[in-house]
Amino acid sequence: MPPVLPESVTATLDRLVPWPDDGTRADGPVAVDATDRLLLTEAAPLLAGLGRSRADDGDQAAGVDDVVVLGDRFGALTVGALALGAAGLRGHTDAVTAEWAIARNLEDSAATLGVGRPVRSFGALGPELLAGARLVLLQLPKSLAELTEIVEAVARYAHDDVILLAGGRDKHMSRTMNDVLADRFREVRATLGRGKSRALVASGVRPDARAAAPLYPVTERLTDSELLAAATPTSAAHGPDHVVVVAHGAAFAGATLDHGTRFLLSTAGRWPAASRVHDAVDLGCGTGLLATVLSRRYPDAVVVATDRSAAAVTSTRATLAANDLTAEVLLDDAGDGLADASADVVLLNPPFHDRTAVSTDAAHRMFATAGRILRPGGELWCVYNTRLRYRGSLSRAVGPTDHVAQDPRFTVTRSRKP
Ligand SMILES: C[S@@+](CC[C@H](N)C(=O)[O-])C[C@H]1O[C@@H](n2cnc3c(N)ncnc32)[C@H](O)[C@@H]1O
Repeated sequence: MPPVLPESVTATLDRLVPWPDDGTRADGPVAVDATDRLLLTEAAPLLAGLGRSRADDGDQAAGVDDVVVLGDRFGALTVGALALGAAGLRGHTDAVTAEWAIARNLEDSAATLGVGRPVRSFGALGPELLAGARLVLLQLPKSLAELTEIVEAVARYAHDDVILLAGGRDKHMSRTMNDVLADRFREVRATLGRGKSRALVASGVRPDARAAAPLYPVTERLTDSELLAAATPTSAAHGPDHVVVVAHGAAFAGATLDHGTRFLLSTAGRWPAASRVHDAVDLGCGTGLLATVLSRRYPDAVVVATDRSAAAVTSTRATLAANDLTAEVLLDDAGDGLADASADVVLLNPPFHDRTAVSTDAAHRMFATAGRILRPGGELWCVYNTRLRYRGSLSRAVGPTDHVAQDPRFTVTRSRKP
């Protein structure tokens, strides 16, 4: 019989909801998945062991600084680790929406968990998050770059004896993920699979990994012609001869120019004239290349960049700084915090995935935001995969929408706010 979670813990997990959903939508997300349950089952004896080692100090559970949870989706790992006896923990998750869901589920579980179990969340993979950690629970990210940055940070800052438990769905796991761990830990083994999920258990930080120079964030100098042309003010004879991009592991497209973004930039000659642009928005900013272009092309405009990903927002700030530019950069869900009728132009390359699942929900919410924040006569310029046929949705959310450019893969549209 494989080990199972105590019934009280399972009951606590069963009450979590995939906030902001309530969990009743048949095709909606689930609050606790098989990977969460597997990770918690593997963590249970380790948490108990940490508790025993603390018992000499009169403490009965894993200490507040022992446990770190990374990539929690809705709070299952956070609430589960507390329900298993952790006295508190530290956490980091990339999407601010996941942060909100974790906070909500923690609040709703407070009565069951008892008071005085601090959960501190951090926006960066730094020493504040990881110093001294002995057990790290990780929902494996989709991208190897994101995983590499996480594992680098664990190896650099956590306790020498740290155990990293990293779980994911079998179909999303690859041999290369083992290699990323094995480069930084002496021992890496896979647990038995359960419910199509599996965990990797890494221990024994390699001394050279602790001392190694970090690979992330990556900084590159881009000279793509579409990027340089779009970043040239219409009144100027010459534009920049390069644009610097800074990319944390979880940021979309890394330190390169995405094909869709390139296609959107190729239409810059038809974007509104500088005289009409006082406020410009990069909605879902990734590494901030569109915000950089907006700041360069419209030097007198106020530029706002926003994304729900902490890595994106940090990358965007670093990209802007590396290009000697300033803009307002906000961590937010679909630009919800932006004021009504506050923008003259919005650039958007909407997401097509939510973690590993194909989802257009966020794209539609971003169209609605564009419709709300544009001033009359303002324009949304959007690029998307041609087969998504967003034109009708864009017309409804914003206003009359033209196909400006199309190639076999991408479509660029302009939607005008009436
Ligand atoms: C296709 S990428 C485009 C990134 C960047 N604008 C570019 O062109 O390289 C989509 C971006 O939307 C962000 N995103 C996804 N869902 C979001 C949401 N609900 N609210 C805000 N940003 C979101 C992702 O984190 C990602 O950075």
